[in-house]
Amino acid sequence: MASVESKSYFCTLKMATIGTDIARCISLLQDDEVVGIPTETVYGLAGNALSEQAVLRIFETKQRPRFDPLIAHIPDVDHLDILSFDVNDKLRTLTEAFWPGPLTVLLPKRDEVPDLLTSGLDRVAVRVPDHKLTQSLLASLEFPLAAPSANPFGYVSPTKPEHVAAQLGHQIPYILDGGDCTVGIESTIVGEEDGRIVIYRLGGLAIDEIEGVVGKVKVQVNESSNPKAPGMLKSHYSPSNRLLIGNIRTLIKSFDPEKVGIISFKDDYGMDEERSFVLSGSGDLKEAAQNLFAALRLLDRQDVEVILTEYVPEEGLGFAINDRLKRASV
Ligand code: TXA
Ligand code: MG
Repeated sequence: MASVESKSYFCTLKMATIGTDIARCISLLQDDEVVGIPTETVYGLAGNALSEQAVLRIFETKQRPRFDPLIAHIPDVDHLDILSFDVNDKLRTLTEAFWPGPLTVLLPKRDEVPDLLTSGLDRVAVRVPDHKLTQSLLASLEFPLAAPSANPFGYVSPTKPEHVAAQLGHQIPYILDGGDCTVGIESTIVGEEDGRIVIYRLGGLAIDEIEGVVGKVKVQVNESSNPKAPGMLKSHYSPSNRLLIGNIRTLIKSFDPEKVGIISFKDDYGMDEERSFVLSGSGDLKEAAQNLFAALRLLDRQDVEVILTEYVPEEGLGFAINDRLKRASV
């Protein structure tokens, strides 16, 4: 009886299908629908980047303020001229070095790109994702895909198809199943100002990798609303449960141990399995990044008063992981 009831409940809400049917995605996208797509960083909520109607639908589905622009995704560097007419030399060098991959570049936008996509800014954000399924989807389409992370505005980004289904599944028809994201945090966003590369959002491509190609960069990741990358609001990626960052052994003394969840970098604090998550037992920052958002979501589902966590080492991807922890804790 219970299963019949839950079945009809889902039918009423029309839950998204999760599958690998690229042809279905193509036809939905051509009709200005939005679908969940996998990338190596996080799952995206995709629609035709050149269609105002599709872009509007993305903003509405995510309940995202219109002042926070979207990233356009293309299959390869040769498609850049659909979106931009002027690619700075240093930015081109970076795209050649790191695309496909977790790098987004800001470039002067063409008039054909809807102002809605860029929230009225004169630069458009572009990236080539490194994911086989999404690569073949993009290669079959005649337009780039606008795709913000597929979560309601302000919440933790999804790194599994089930994460997308859990929050947006009743609003979209299809989620392309590309398995778990391998990078796990969003792309690094860069642009050029006065001949220098500027990083506006720390992400899945580490600063030292970028500096290895173009030399010293400026990191301009503001804590509050930033007109250059307005999405980097101070409070973002936030779970509903309170998150505290510090020395876990010290913090835990202030709480009922039965009501505490722990996300640790590499040490196991001997808690019940469902209330404790070790990001990487071997202390590998790439593995920690890959697991971070799934850990936040898992702990957010537990009946705890607080989630305790700690900063990871400030090197490589550690800067981006700590940035996300900080924003999740506000
Ligand atoms: O890894 C990623 O980048 C994922 C996957 C799906 O590609 N996408 C993603 O999108 O993280 P979203 O919308 O969650 O974050 C995009 C960020 C926002 O902080 C936004 O403000 C910034 O990019 N952005 C987009 N267009 C911009 C522009 N024209 N100028 C400045 N910032 C821009
Ligand atoms: Mg996002």
